Amino acid sequence: MPPNLPEIEELARQAGKILRDGYGKNIKVDRKGVIDLVTEMDHRSEAFLIDSIQRRYPTHRIVAEESGAVAGASESVWYIDPLDGTVNYAHGFPLFSVSLAFAHAGELLFGAVYNPVRDECFTAGRGEGAWLNGEPIRVSTISDLDQSLLVTGFPYDIRTNPDNNLDRYNRFSLRTQGVRRLGSAALDLGYVAAGWLDGFWELRLNPWDVAAGALIVQEAGGVVTDLSGDPDFMKPPYAILAANPKIHPQMVEILG
Ligand code: IPD
Ligand code: CA
Ligand code: CA
Repeated sequence: MPPNLPEIEELARQAGKILRDGYGKNIKVDRKGVIDLVTEMDHRSEAFLIDSIQRRYPTHRIVAEESGAVAGASESVWYIDPLDGTVNYAHGFPLFSVSLAFAHAGELLFGAVYNPVRDECFTAGRGEGAWLNGEPIRVSTISDLDQSLLVTGFPYDIRTNPDNNLDRYNRFSLRTQGVRRLGSAALDLGYVAAGWLDGFWELRLNPWDVAAGALIVQEAGGVVTDLSGDPDFMKPPYAILAANPKIHPQMVEILG
């Protein structure tokens, strides 16, 4: 039996509860890089998800942020970001999520992004639709970039890599009503899907950051591509542009 969306939503909610229980407590924080943090709650949430998935689906492959690739022979793959927004979490800033997606034969089939602080669970099933806590969601209808509110993020090598997105951030800031930097790419995508934000781009992410949220945006009527407009975004460097269908081409033009 393949997994189903209620099961994936439940797993994301349970992992989110682990994060919420540790939130604001004196948890252990380590550095993976100068500004790239990992907390003991990243590890606990991930261990819970990997263990739950392996018990039910022992042959499935798992691609998880803190453990890397967990071998499995089948064409069924799970993408896990156990805590998206670790820097926010470590500072006690209440914006972070669990991102969980399931793909088969190279196609994303189910995704869930859960923000346990606001109890927001964004979900989608391919060809079935996208929901926030069970209510259908759609991307916004804003048609003019001048009227849009966008969101972006910056890579952890921002201090050393000149291709750090600050130039694009400048450009979009002068062409829109604002560009937000929230600190959780998965939630950025959920918020585009809900129509609260009109577009999101980021230069270098990982499959676990984008898999669930990208499907949720697509199922909410949005367009998801790489920065040049190529629909094949699930490949290194996992550059992503997700927006409502009217804003999307205007963003491609500026990113180009
Ligand atoms: C990060 C967040 C952030 C984005 C970074 C990601 P993490 O994920 O999604 O918004 O700008 O590029 O790495 O490290 O908190 O899981
Ligand atoms: Ca992440
Ligand atoms: Ca993470």
